[in-house]
Amino acid sequence: MLAAYVTSFSSDSPLEGLEVGERPDPEVPDGWTTVTVKAASLNHHDLWSLRGVGLKEEQLPMVLGCDAAGVDDEGNEVVVHAVVASPGWSGDETLDPRRSLLSERHPGALAERVAVPRRNVVPKPSSLSFEEAACLPTAWLTAYRMLFTRGGLKAGDTVLVQGAGGGVATACIMLGRAAGLRVIATSRDEAKRARALEIGAHEVVESGARLPVKVDAVMETVGRATWSHSIRALRPGGVLVTSGTTSGPKLDDAELTRIFFLQLSVVGSTMGTRDELASLVSMLDATGVRPLVDRTLPLDRARDGFAAMAEGDVFGKIVFTL
Ligand SMILES: NC(=O)c1ccc[n+]([C@@H]2O[C@H](COP(=O)([O-])OP(=O)(O)OC[C@H]3O[C@@H](n4cnc5c(N)ncnc54)[C@H](OP(=O)(O)O)[C@@H]3O)[C@@H](O)[C@H]2O)c1
Repeated sequence: MLAAYVTSFSSDSPLEGLEVGERPDPEVPDGWTTVTVKAASLNHHDLWSLRGVGLKEEQLPMVLGCDAAGVDDEGNEVVVHAVVASPGWSGDETLDPRRSLLSERHPGALAERVAVPRRNVVPKPSSLSFEEAACLPTAWLTAYRMLFTRGGLKAGDTVLVQGAGGGVATACIMLGRAAGLRVIATSRDEAKRARALEIGAHEVVESGARLPVKVDAVMETVGRATWSHSIRALRPGGVLVTSGTTSGPKLDDAELTRIFFLQLSVVGSTMGTRDELASLVSMLDATGVRPLVDRTLPLDRARDGFAAMAEGDVFGKIVFTL
């Protein structure tokens, strides 16, 4: 089958280890299903994999990709949940210490076929295209859990979304707006700030600039470059939800004094559960909100999509079709 896979690691030139070509079909253990992929989407996780984060040399070659939508072996149109819990685990899959994401232990979703535990498929409503549904399992699910589960936000609250161009950030803006939040977004780039307004932000400011109001919560995926600003943006008792460190994890100033004096909460969040993915799908079906697709490419042109993400030349999700 056609697949995008990693053959070697490079932290400086991650695309050197990317191949797009033939791989054997995935093995299908008992209780698993094979999904014939119609669309798959790219995440920063795939670039980390090419850099060797989360993978070992002896696992190579490994098919990349966490996100897919397609048709399962019973003919159902489905969205794939990328968090694979260990056998026997029950409850919140993201808390399973032995969980993995597709492409970390099992072949990933940037392929004609992907095998997953039968529980890891969620019905795709006909209102969502395969391309839209393929955007949901990582970036959009992460945004959903950050806002509503870990952030505890409710209609009327004010949220700051840092780094407006990323897949998680655009999802936070659009889901936040649909849920009745007041959304403020930052970007270093004027054109991206304008796009953030178009997709639902009420206000935009340059990265690091003073905000018009203190916010109830910050959705933080940038890390080092925006951390101080995020802490300073919060009202007393506010919450910072962090799920990524695109600009690096080592902070110049963790702002500890502010955190204790203003009684702030710093909360980690990662991916989401299968049930949260089902709720996200229902939310999109009910609200008409649709993932923002930056570009759609056939899988055999996956390298172009990876290059765009590596250069930060994206606003929304990059989708591959099969
Ligand atoms: N924990 C999880 O489950 C999970 C799930 C998904 C993603 N993630 C992580 O979340 C992060 C975001 O991923 P993504 O794919 O949504 O987006 P991304 O492509 O990594 O970009 C996010 C945004 O970061 C901003 N940025 C990058 N460098 C910056 C800098 N030096 N200063 C200020 N802003 C900077 C950019 O905003 P502007 O250009 O607009 O300023 C960019 O749009 C990644 O690190 C990813 O690994 C984690």
